[in-house]
Amino acid sequence: MNAVEIEEAVSALAEKPFDRAEFPYAFLEAFGNKQTTLKRLRSGASNKSDLGGVLQTNNIHIATCDPGQVTVTLQALKASPATARAKAKFILATDGDSFEAEDLTSGETVACAYRDFPDHFGFFLPLAGITTVKQIRESSFDIKATGRLNRLYVELLKDNPEWGTAARRPDMNHFMARLIFCFFAENTDIFSRPLLFTSTVQTMSASDSSNTHEVISTIFRAMNVKAADRAAGGIPRWADAFPYVNGGLFSGSAEVPRFSRIARSYLLHIGSLDWKKINPDIFGSMIQAVAEDEERGALGMHYTSVPNILKVLNPLFLDDLRERLAEAGDNPRKLLNLRNRMAKIRVFDPACGSGNFLVIAYKEMRAIEAEINRRRGEADRRSDIPLTNFRGIELRNFPAEIARLALIIAEFQCDVLYRGQKEALQDFLPLDTENWIICGNALRLDWLSICPLTGTGVKLQADDLFSTPLDQAQMDFENEGGETYICGNPPYAGKGKKTPQQIEDMEFIFGPFGVKHGYIDYVGCWFMKAVEYGARAKSAFAFVTTNSLCQGHQVPLLWPLLFRTGYRISFAYTSFKWANLASHNAGVTVVVIGLSAETRKLPRIFTVSADGAQLSKEVSNINAYLVAGPNLFVEKRSDPLGGAASMDLGNMPYDGGHLLLERHEIAELGLTEDLEKKLIRRIYGSKEFISDNPRYCLWIEDSMLVEASKVPGVAKRIEAVRAMRLKSPDNGGRALAARPHQMREMYEAQHHTIIMPRTSSESRPYLPVGLLDARSIVSSEAFALFNAPIWQVSIIASRLHLVWIATVCGQLETRYRYSNVLGWNTFPVPPLTAKNKADLTRCAEDILLTREAHYPATVAELYDPESMPADLRAAHERNDEVLERIYIGRRFKNDTERLEKLFELYAKMTAGQGTTKKQKAKATA
Ligand SMILES: C[S@@+](CC[C@H](N)C(=O)[O-])C[C@H]1O[C@@H](n2cnc3c(N)ncnc32)[C@H](O)[C@@H]1O
Repeated sequence: MNAVEIEEAVSALAEKPFDRAEFPYAFLEAFGNKQTTLKRLRSGASNKSDLGGVLQTNNIHIATCDPGQVTVTLQALKASPATARAKAKFILATDGDSFEAEDLTSGETVACAYRDFPDHFGFFLPLAGITTVKQIRESSFDIKATGRLNRLYVELLKDNPEWGTAARRPDMNHFMARLIFCFFAENTDIFSRPLLFTSTVQTMSASDSSNTHEVISTIFRAMNVKAADRAAGGIPRWADAFPYVNGGLFSGSAEVPRFSRIARSYLLHIGSLDWKKINPDIFGSMIQAVAEDEERGALGMHYTSVPNILKVLNPLFLDDLRERLAEAGDNPRKLLNLRNRMAKIRVFDPACGSGNFLVIAYKEMRAIEAEINRRRGEADRRSDIPLTNFRGIELRNFPAEIARLALIIAEFQCDVLYRGQKEALQDFLPLDTENWIICGNALRLDWLSICPLTGTGVKLQADDLFSTPLDQAQMDFENEGGETYICGNPPYAGKGKKTPQQIEDMEFIFGPFGVKHGYIDYVGCWFMKAVEYGARAKSAFAFVTTNSLCQGHQVPLLWPLLFRTGYRISFAYTSFKWANLASHNAGVTVVVIGLSAETRKLPRIFTVSADGAQLSKEVSNINAYLVAGPNLFVEKRSDPLGGAASMDLGNMPYDGGHLLLERHEIAELGLTEDLEKKLIRRIYGSKEFISDNPRYCLWIEDSMLVEASKVPGVAKRIEAVRAMRLKSPDNGGRALAARPHQMREMYEAQHHTIIMPRTSSESRPYLPVGLLDARSIVSSEAFALFNAPIWQVSIIASRLHLVWIATVCGQLETRYRYSNVLGWNTFPVPPLTAKNKADLTRCAEDILLTREAHYPATVAELYDPESMPADLRAAHERNDEVLERIYIGRRFKNDTERLEKLFELYAKMTAGQGTTKKQKAKATA
């Protein structure tokens, strides 16, 4: 069940008469428990309650009670030994009149009237396995409203299928935006009477719903005509109570889809919600999911949360405004200057969705302005911050509509908050007419036409906000001397994830620079557009983006282009986990990057630790890997820096599967014991090594070919390889047909092989390097160091190496992608003494022997972060200790410090080297 479905079930439960015996089961059912689970609880089989209630292990202990006994019952639930034994996360007591509950993990409580408990359903979402951030938990209203609108939308499309076609979707979206406005307006006194819209529809439309569309259409028409013109416009008197709204929201066609009886009752029901509670930061993101068939269930919950939006906006410009406010104290002139400055700040989000960055920026600025006005004794002064200074581009029509609405609602709510309901109402209608959210492709529009140089541009001629063609990118709002801040969370789309249109956009943006953009994430285009804009109009910008933009291959492709424009990184949040709704956001790691051409302030680097704590420090420069240090780009090298052994990819079988064998296939070859020993080897790629499940292969030295060919099973396989290679489309492949008994390479070790898988899950705390005996073969699915000294295992197994690989090689989805030429060959190791090497050898042996002690546990099992054995962790800790002391004489404090040191050393070790053409040519993997 998703959050909307749960909310609906919970609301339905609250509306039913309270049944003391049944309530606990009905409550659990509303949170998605299956009938079989409930049956077991009812029978007592899984009910662990010691208070006559219902106790579901690891979840909740519920007790219903006599009237007036709720608080005591909750205390009893809390004190109950069974609650602790069953590790219940929640306790809940109710008598059908009042309702109390506690989250035993956080200590948060809910106490409300029984009929209101659905307002707190977000509090209990963990019961359904949905972990949410606080803001979603507290957005019961927005979830409820979205769920109801969702149902209405689907119901209307059933009866009006043509409104669902591509051609009419914009009309449908516009209709929904109008409805939302009406619901908001009738609950906030914007309309002259509470519930004016809903009650008018109810009384004027027939209960069989046959004329509902006509009644709504008439109301919409009325709101587009000034009072004086209504009689002439044929507006019936009953619609006179509706105000003139303008702003384009009600201009254009007033056509309304036809309503079935069900749709009409949904509409009336939606009207009964308390729309005052709408939160435009979050509502827009949720509501936009209504219009997207495949998004509906997800509720738009992968939207950017407010704390994450503030990670962009605060360092970009809000912190500075707040500092200026603090500096100004009560000095009226300084306060006035700040207010004047703020009135000219433009905030521009070129992938604005439903406008959440703009809404938050607006609300935060209004808060600062309100404080200025308070200190200047002008508390109810009209705001000087024009909504028109908050601009956006959005590709999809519905979010663009909603963004406009969200900003209007935010403005009204801020006016009510800071100036009072009366003043807010006075200024609200008619709506402003300027078009400040463009619907279009941000990568094809000239941003200067949306945020022109201050004081220039073409005056927008359109007469209203909502009917202005959404793709009309012409805006000019006088803003002389103003600042422009570009922000947002543009779409990421990594390699292999781009649509053909997005690939064309990439070519459009990067083509002129001759950059191979295949590796660059789509979001990289927004950085390019922003610096291009910055070359023409002074601005600073910051985006949330995938961390891959600052890792591996993408860095040397994208960042030199950005830096050469004179921009530098002014602040950065290093990688942090994206968390709104855990079940919908698993695995996304993002960064926030701010760029500016301004050099007066030192750059600031922010880190978010696993427990959410935030640290920041000023540094002299932030490079493209988001590390404090000089700007440099780590490029592939054909041989290792310093004295490390060379690392190669293993052997490519190129065999159509005929040289490789499963265990049972060995017997089918009919080899003698002696020949089996000579011809068959274990072979490991990444998967085989990590899961300790080797395959086997024919390994035939030239000297053994004659003897091997006498075995029919072997000869048949060799022939099959020859046939397969002869069919190869490339010369190299066909040439290999001349020695079909062998793999493309025939690398093997005399003593041992150090194996390093090509990819490894990012959840593992260390890279899964290993040691194989000399007879084991490594396939091209892994890297190998043949006969290399064992201390090199210590290097690869270290935390230092892992953070380097994660940064310079990048990731493949959620796996580290190892590279010999980009990761191993570039890894800076300081000169090692014989003693250092001996110490590291001991550490490596320790790690390997500790693993052995856990035989038959596989590497995958041993490095599972949840269950990694303590002695293995300790062996790695010792290894890190010894290696890190070699680098700086102590342990590093954190990964940030590790990277800073590595980059510093890398810069020193490569100084004056450059990358030779020969090196580049040799560097292939
Ligand atoms: C990751 S969402 C962020 C939206 C919003 N800030 C939020 O947090 O929900 C990216 C937005 O960019 C829009 N988008 C995608 N490609 C675009 C393009 N080429 N031009 C403009 N907007 C685009 C998407 O429709 C989506 O609304």
